[in-house]
Amino acid sequence: MSAYPRLVYLNGAFLPPDQAKVSAFDRGFVFADGVYEVIPVYGRRLFRFTQHLERLGNSLGAIALADPLAAADWENLCTRLIETNDAEDQSVYLQVTRGPAPRDHAFPAEIEPTVFAYSQPLKYPDATQLANGVAAITVPDFRWRRCDIKAIALLPNVLMRQQATEAGAAEAILIRDGLMTEGSASNIFAVVNGIVVTPPKGLFILPGVTRDLVLELARAHGVPCEERELSETELRAAEELMLSSSTKELLAITTLDGRAVGNGKPGPRHARLHALYQDYKRDFRAGRVA
Ligand code: PDD
Repeated sequence: MSAYPRLVYLNGAFLPPDQAKVSAFDRGFVFADGVYEVIPVYGRRLFRFTQHLERLGNSLGAIALADPLAAADWENLCTRLIETNDAEDQSVYLQVTRGPAPRDHAFPAEIEPTVFAYSQPLKYPDATQLANGVAAITVPDFRWRRCDIKAIALLPNVLMRQQATEAGAAEAILIRDGLMTEGSASNIFAVVNGIVVTPPKGLFILPGVTRDLVLELARAHGVPCEERELSETELRAAEELMLSSSTKELLAITTLDGRAVGNGKPGPRHARLHALYQDYKRDFRAGRVA
């Protein structure tokens, strides 16, 4: 269980969490009418900040909500939140909701968005998970058709992750119409005939920033990879499986629905991509990459 952060940002103020209050009529609370971001921080520096801010802009645009802050203001508030933590590696959470208004599905004419943010120490997967990989289960993807929006309406994801937890697994892998989409809170890569495969961007997956970096690193270092649809049958026969997210980086999945993936150990493609990711992070910490 992670503790509450010491300080949070709410609508222009930096406050202890118990003093950060939002109206019970906030449309985020009533309708889940809002979007969010999670940004990793390495060596007290925001990682892939431009990409995360761009995705936030896309999510806001998709729900017709004007970005309440300029890029420099987002950066300043994130920097200030990072300063309130001792940890070198953190994760910043940003959330924008449409704001408080009397309950009505349609947008009110006049409304001030609610901006909430905090940073907390980054909780890495533990050593056992890194060494052995994690378990995953498959579940039907019963989400809506705009999974590209990083919406705070996460009830399906919450239920799917809970199902995984109750099955003793770390992640649920979602299947829609016979195709694998993504994880409940991650993107998924499979190794098929030695090629690293992940589904293309579109309406059914979140365009993961970690996913993009993994592909970028694979391409730059000659690791064969492909963005294409992956059938449930291919998923079950995959030589390796891995998940990616801002908080889990690239983690091997070594059992699927109770059966071993490959030989049941993290495989060579995972080892290679994980090492490339760690090298990239090291360069980032040292200021050698932006
Ligand atoms: N979730 N797909 C879903 C549904 C996600 O919720 C996430 C991340 C990802 C990976 O995206 P990225 O690499 O940009 O983190 C894919 C975050 C970490 C969360 O909800 O906490």
